[in-house]
Amino acid sequence: MTNIIVNMTYLLASVMFMYGLKGLTHPRTAVRGNLISALAMLIAVLVTLLDRRIISYELIIAGVVTGAAIGTILAVRIQMTAMPQLVALFNGFGGIASVFVAGAALIESGVAPSGAPMAQISIATAASGFIGSVTFWGSLVAFAKLQGIVVPGGSVQFPGQKLLNILMTVACVVLSVLIFRNPSDIMLYWALCAVASVLGVTVVIPIGGADMPVVIALLNSYSGLAAASTGFVLSNNVLIIAGSLVGASGLILTRIMCKAMNRSLRNVLFGTLAPAEGSATADEVYAGKVKSAGPEEVAMLFDTSQRVVIVPGYGMAVAQAQHAVKDLATLLEERGQTVEFAIHPVAGRMPGHMNVLLAEASVEYDKLKEMDEINPTMAQVDVALVIGANDVVNPIAKTDPKSAIAGMPIIDVDLARTTVVVKRSLSPGFAGIPNPLFAMDNTLMMFGDGKKAILELIAALKEG
Ligand code: TAP
Repeated sequence: MTNIIVNMTYLLASVMFMYGLKGLTHPRTAVRGNLISALAMLIAVLVTLLDRRIISYELIIAGVVTGAAIGTILAVRIQMTAMPQLVALFNGFGGIASVFVAGAALIESGVAPSGAPMAQISIATAASGFIGSVTFWGSLVAFAKLQGIVVPGGSVQFPGQKLLNILMTVACVVLSVLIFRNPSDIMLYWALCAVASVLGVTVVIPIGGADMPVVIALLNSYSGLAAASTGFVLSNNVLIIAGSLVGASGLILTRIMCKAMNRSLRNVLFGTLAPAEGSATADEVYAGKVKSAGPEEVAMLFDTSQRVVIVPGYGMAVAQAQHAVKDLATLLEERGQTVEFAIHPVAGRMPGHMNVLLAEASVEYDKLKEMDEINPTMAQVDVALVIGANDVVNPIAKTDPKSAIAGMPIIDVDLARTTVVVKRSLSPGFAGIPNPLFAMDNTLMMFGDGKKAILELIAALKEG
């Protein structure tokens, strides 16, 4: 195949990637965007296979079949609530693939030069090995944390951790320079990968609690950068473009997440976040102040309300309550009430988690209001119905600078005339801290599983 046809096809695939990414920015076009990007990837892979000097199609087919089988099983069986772990794992696989491909290319460059300048190959290989190894091991730690295999959501710190991280980063830079000066010594490359692997673990283990989504978005970006570097190793334009797109979009997502959680990127990058100490305990916050209500009492509240705002959180996903919530909203609207959904950018366990669930239950997109849009009007809300949300409505973020979520923007349900919180107990959310909202004068707790509680509320409304 001539170079021009290959590159034109790569260009087409790249434009399709960008078009697909644009589709992902809105729930209505997200599925189409995903399909377009997948088709672009198929085109890029096929053209590369036809273009390159392939030694063994059997091995490639075996790899595709095995990978596709594992991917299909994972995608079909995975619970929506475990999606962040899966994304972390995918990021890690992307990183390790870059490590091996770049390493293989470095070995091969001594035997069969690819035509690319040796300086380009050695610099890009070092970058792939470094970033790819950090991504793989960092992602495995993120996966293990979210899966509850090691310290669920918690932070592991030890004395001298930051100094060790700095020393390992310096060691990686030194090894990269040595690879540049002596690319034929493949042991230098594996030494770089080994040090970067330990760095990947020690950089992610101190990060805990509410910061994990930022880390996953960042590792996603790293996996793209590793792929782009591998693109330079192989002189493959579509890999450079696709990797850069992943790198850039991951960074943009990281920035959005940082803003939503009030964390600086510097803090996340260097893992300097410390857990909260000295804040009030659950007993101090709740003792004797929490009021609970049954479905009938809550139904009576709705008799006198005009404007209702529903705030979903992780518990709605666990309870799979989205369809019951949609039915409740429809019922309230039939009774003449205004119902809106307030969506916090990090509600749930992955970006867009609530949007996906509510879209699945056919809630109209224009009823979903972003935090910045709904907050200025929260004081005019008659009933704020919080379903399985906790951290994202915790007013302590505004009042206690020592809190783990200090400064994180929240949905101001505490300003509503009455707030009803549906959850099973007074257990904390992801950040592991008590929530003074549950003890406020204008808050009623409706204890129970999210779906069951909402179905009971619907029944009570219909009876009343
Ligand atoms: P959380 O603060 O995690 O609180 C969820 C609450 O849901 C829990 O307190 C739990 O209380 C309740 N719950 C669990 N199962 C339930 C069920 N079956 N029925 C009813 N309630 C149930 O959730 P949030 O407010 O959505 O905040 C998200 C948190 O996750 C933030 O801290 C965020 O930083 C973090 N995070 C977000 C992401 C992204 S990108 N969205 C990714 C990772 C982490 P009970 O046990 O008492 O029922």
